Amino acid sequence: MRQLLPALFTIFILVMSLNTWSCKHDPTMPEDSMTPVDTMDIDTIDNPVDTSDITPCDSNTVYFNQQVLPILKSNCAFSACHDAASAQGEVILDNYNQVVATAGVEPFDLQGSDLYEAITEDDEDKRMPPIPRSPLTPEQIQIISAWILQGAENEECDPDAEACDTDNVSFVNDLQPILNNTCVGCHSGSAPAGGIILGDYDGVKVVVDDGRLLGAINWESGFSSMPQGGEQLSDCVIDQFTAWINDGALNN
Ligand code: HEC
Repeated sequence: MRQLLPALFTIFILVMSLNTWSCKHDPTMPEDSMTPVDTMDIDTIDNPVDTSDITPCDSNTVYFNQQVLPILKSNCAFSACHDAASAQGEVILDNYNQVVATAGVEPFDLQGSDLYEAITEDDEDKRMPPIPRSPLTPEQIQIISAWILQGAENEECDPDAEACDTDNVSFVNDLQPILNNTCVGCHSGSAPAGGIILGDYDGVKVVVDDGRLLGAINWESGFSSMPQGGEQLSDCVIDQFTAWINDGALNN
């Protein structure tokens, strides 16, 4: 009996630890299959995109198509100015290849870049965009400068690759910078496009309340697709506008 007890005890420990092991590592239902499918997966299924070489956006990198081009499209690449048909001064600013080929961009060299000189020119008669248009904002000049200093490359990223934060969307911090760089160039000044002013909260609120803002950015039929002549805003940005409107479209 004195020898049997320790043996029984050892067997007991063995059985217990085997049990624990099997509970932890062999669940009948994998945990993953219990979590609800998130909408990002659904998007991928609906729009199969080859994401193998498209990375999430890095806040230290300037992405031409997402950050620089919207500024050029809403301030410069119009008819009678720098769209492909008009090509004033043989400068075309409506896509990456043309900007690099025609706007005198010297990678890594701000002072040597005609594009930079034109947007920072002190002489109002030479400055771009010309009077009566407003000059680019310091933030817009900063984005274009950073892009040139990074080598004026056409880096790509997927703005929807990471989870989208739609909680407590702030008009001032989250949405206004997007409007300023993507829309305000056309929707401001003495003759704002479509009579719509997007440079301040009150103007934005008008098209929020009549439903045209969401109709236009969702490219719904019956509305003009905005930004005009540009890429549709990312899914995340559209979701943030929608969440902000559902929360009462506050001037927050
Ligand atoms: C290149 C110039 C340009 C840019 C950039 C632009 N718009 Fe417009 N937008 C227009 C013009 C012109 C109209 C009026 C004619 C029309 O409806 O097509 C208009 C009309 C609209 C309308 C009314 C649509 C309707 O169906 O009644 C809304 C809302 C609007 N824009 C929002 C935006 C927003 C938001 C952005 C940025 C994401 C933007 N726009 C960027 C030129 C522009």
